[in-house]
Amino acid sequence: MSHLEELRRRIESRQARAGVVGLGYVGLPLAVELAHAGFCVTGIDVLAPKVDAINRGESYVQDVPTDVLKPLVEAGKIRATTDFGAVAQLDTINICVPTPLRKTKDPDMSYIVSSCQEIAKYFHAGMLVILESTTYPGTTDELMLPMFEAGGLKVGEDFFLCFSPERVDPGNPQFQTKNIPKVVGGITAACTQAGAAFYRQALDTVVPVGSTRVAEMVKLLENTFRMINIGLANEIALMCDRMGINVWEVIDAAATKPFGFMPFYPGPGLGGHCIPIDPFYLSWKTKQAGIEARFIELAGYINGQMPHFIVDKIQNALNEHTKPLKGSRVHVMGVAYKRDIDDVRESPALDIIHLLGRRGAVVSYSDPFVPQIATDGIEMRGVDAGAGIAAADCVVIVTDHKSFDYADLVGRARLIVDTRNALKGFTSDTIVRL
Ligand SMILES: NC(=O)c1ccc[n+]([C@@H]2O[C@H](COP(=O)([O-])OP(=O)(O)OC[C@H]3O[C@@H](n4cnc5c(N)ncnc54)[C@H](O)[C@@H]3O)[C@@H](O)[C@H]2O)c1
Repeated sequence: MSHLEELRRRIESRQARAGVVGLGYVGLPLAVELAHAGFCVTGIDVLAPKVDAINRGESYVQDVPTDVLKPLVEAGKIRATTDFGAVAQLDTINICVPTPLRKTKDPDMSYIVSSCQEIAKYFHAGMLVILESTTYPGTTDELMLPMFEAGGLKVGEDFFLCFSPERVDPGNPQFQTKNIPKVVGGITAACTQAGAAFYRQALDTVVPVGSTRVAEMVKLLENTFRMINIGLANEIALMCDRMGINVWEVIDAAATKPFGFMPFYPGPGLGGHCIPIDPFYLSWKTKQAGIEARFIELAGYINGQMPHFIVDKIQNALNEHTKPLKGSRVHVMGVAYKRDIDDVRESPALDIIHLLGRRGAVVSYSDPFVPQIATDGIEMRGVDAGAGIAAADCVVIVTDHKSFDYADLVGRARLIVDTRNALKGFTSDTIVRL
C-alpha cells in the first residue's frame, strides 16, 4: 500500500492521530472540530499556561466555550503539550502559528521557521503537514519544503505538504471553522488529495486548488480586497466630511443596488491580526518580482490616517464647545479591534489613546471584553462605562459593542464623537459623526 493510500485509510477510519501546532484563535477551534469529527488531537504550543489551561479543559478563546472543550479533554480527544516530541506519534499536523509584520512591514517568518524546525526533528514517512498561517505566496514550497525534504523523504510520495488558508472570523456566530469552506492546495496532486481527504472528515465544504501558491494567494486576495475597499470607504468618508454629507446614509442607499455593489464602511482605522497585516505580505513579495502593489500602499496610507483624523475631529468638536483638548477628559468606548470580541491586536483604539495622550488629554476607557490593556506601551485598566461617561468632556465610540447602552450615553454625555455610526437613529446636538 502506498503512503497516500495508508494515510487516507487512517484518516477515513479516524485512526490518524492529528496534531495542531499553535493553539490560538485559529488552532484551538480547529482542534475542537477535528476532535468532534472523531480524531484524537494533540495540540502543541510554546506557552505552558495555554497548554495547562487546555489540559484542565478551560478555554481562553472566545469562540470555543469551556463547556465545549471540557468534555473533549475529559474524553481524551484533545490533549496539549509544549513537547514537540509528540510529533513522532502524529499522522497529521496543522500549523497555526502567528505571522506578524516586523516594524519595517516585512513578514516575520520566525514562528513558522521555528515550529517547522521542531517538527522536522520528529518528522516521519506517511505524514501530512498543512500550513494554515497567512503568508506570502511561495512560503510552503520555498521555505517549508526544503526543511522537510532534508531528511531524504520525497514530497507527494513519502509525505504530503499543503497550504490551507484559515478564514475564521472571530465573534461571528453564523460562520465558524466547520461551515466556512476550506480551500486547500498541495505541493503535488497527491498532497492536495491527502489534505482534502483530511478536511472532508471534519468540515462541511472543501475546495481543492491546483497548488500551494494558489491557496496562499487566495487568502491574500480576500484580505487585500477587504483592506482596499475599507480604504475606499474611508476616503469617501473624508470627502463627505469636507462636503457636509452623511457618509453612512450614502453607503446605506448605495447598498440598495441589487448588483455590482458591496457595502464597506469607514471607521477609526484598521485592526486585528489580518486585514492591516496580510496585504503587506503580498506587497513585500511582489516587490521582489519588480511589481509595486500600489493599491495596497495607498489603502494602507488612507487607513493609517484615520486615527489622526478621529483625534482631529475630537479636538475640533471640543473647540466648538470652547474646551481645548489639552487637559480635557476623553472617554473611549470600546478598545477591541471590532465589535463583540476581546482582541486588541492592531486596534485603532490603541493609536487613538496614544494620540490623545500626546495632545494632553486625560484618557479613560470602558470595554466589557477588555478589562485591561497592557500592550504597545499602554498600561490601563478599564472603568465602568457610566462613570467614564459622567466624568468625560467628550466620549468617543471606537468599537460599537452591542452591549453598550447607547440611549443612556446620548442622554448623559456632554459631547460624543461616533466613529462607527453606532448612534444611527439618534439625534442630538451633542453627537458628532464620522
Ligand atoms: N485570528 C484570526 O482571526 C485569523 C483569521 C484567519 C487567519 N489567521 C492567521 O492564522 C495564524 C494564527 O493566528 P491566531 O490569531 O490564531 O494567532 P494566536 O496568536 O492567537 O495563536 C498562535 C499560537 O501559536 C503559538 N506559537 C507561537 N510560536 C509557536 C511555535 N514556534 N510553536 C508552537 N506554537 C507557537 C502561540 O503561543 C499562540 O498560542 C496567523 O497567520 C493569522 O494571520 C488568523
